[in-house]
Amino acid sequence: MNIDLHDTWFLGEVEIPTRLVLAPMAGVSVQAFRRQGRRYGAGLVCSEMVSVAGIQHRNERTLGYLRVGSDEHPLAIQIFGSDPVAMAEAARMVEAAGADVVDMNFGCPVTKVTKTGAGASLLDDPDHACGLVEAVATAVSLPVSVKMRRGVENGSRTCLEVGPRLVAAGASSLTLHPRSAKQMYTGTADHSLTAELVSLVDVPVIASGDVTSRAKAQSVLATTGAAAVMVGRAAQGNPWVLREIMGGDDNPSREEVVAELILFIRETVRELGDQRANGFLKKFYGWYLGRGRFPRPFKQELVMLPTIAEVEARLFAAAPGARFVLERLLHETPDPADEVLLDSLPISIYGGG
Ligand SMILES: Cc1cc2nc3c(=O)[nH]c(=O)nc-3n(C[C@H](O)[C@H](O)[C@H](O)COP(=O)(O)O)c2cc1C
Repeated sequence: MNIDLHDTWFLGEVEIPTRLVLAPMAGVSVQAFRRQGRRYGAGLVCSEMVSVAGIQHRNERTLGYLRVGSDEHPLAIQIFGSDPVAMAEAARMVEAAGADVVDMNFGCPVTKVTKTGAGASLLDDPDHACGLVEAVATAVSLPVSVKMRRGVENGSRTCLEVGPRLVAAGASSLTLHPRSAKQMYTGTADHSLTAELVSLVDVPVIASGDVTSRAKAQSVLATTGAAAVMVGRAAQGNPWVLREIMGGDDNPSREEVVAELILFIRETVRELGDQRANGFLKKFYGWYLGRGRFPRPFKQELVMLPTIAEVEARLFAAAPGARFVLERLLHETPDPADEVLLDSLPISIYGGG
């Protein structure tokens, strides 16, 4: 069966223009990543998980995650926490920030998160999990989605028991990454569970895990009945996989790779500041330049350069024609001034007064 990835679908009342979703990834899903994802065909993009405690304490860095660009819509902002009152307040902030969907993280397997009763540990406490969904769904008029793993223990089928209850509590969509929390990222995502979940709920299900090509996207959609597939690791430094999944090619020229990387660098510097961006970006050099696109020592050289200006100069030297591609990209990318800034949030919500 040939499935059209260009079909639209609805998450609550939000129309999603394609059946491809860009995964939330902590330390990766900055605005530049999300904007790029939209340009390459993702119908929905998602922020990395944002700490509800950080929002509650008005932590400056956390609030930075609530910055929404005009070209990111539709955008989900994902929150994690375990206190219903704090979750509801955070969800109201997400709504005020201009997101289209509030996503709740019930899948993070990292101990730092699970030991606070958040993330994947909520799958073992369904009553509490449902209480959180209900609190958030009543606090906002945006649709609420939940992203979860199959369960905590290996072989767990908890998602099939909890999923329908989360929908009854107010979730308008579920995303399933069918690995256990214990598995972290080992083994494979068992999408037979995704198919079972689809048969149990009457809201759209998004299938996450190991979608790395058009063929895999098509087969996951066909065999599960999911509304959309989500792509994570395969898109790191590789927006061209999104293009391939949507029916295009995944063979960028060296100039295209360098131009996208430089645009990514510039946008990330704008978002995080020079110093934070410098460290943050290093992993992206390998992701962009790997996959046989550039010789390995070139990446090592970039990582060692002390400033971003030197990285840019070295990249242009390696692919001079990238200047023309970059000019075109800049021309096509909306002015950053269009973005919704936190200063424009209602002061009562932002915490003033
Ligand atoms: C570096 C990294 C960070 C992640 N951070 C988040 C996160 O903040 N929230 C979340 O729900 N999932 C997170 N995930 C899980 C992904 O969204 C996705 O479900 C998982 O990687 C499986 O999809 P993939 O095989 O396409 O990568 C993260 C994954 C990775 C690799």
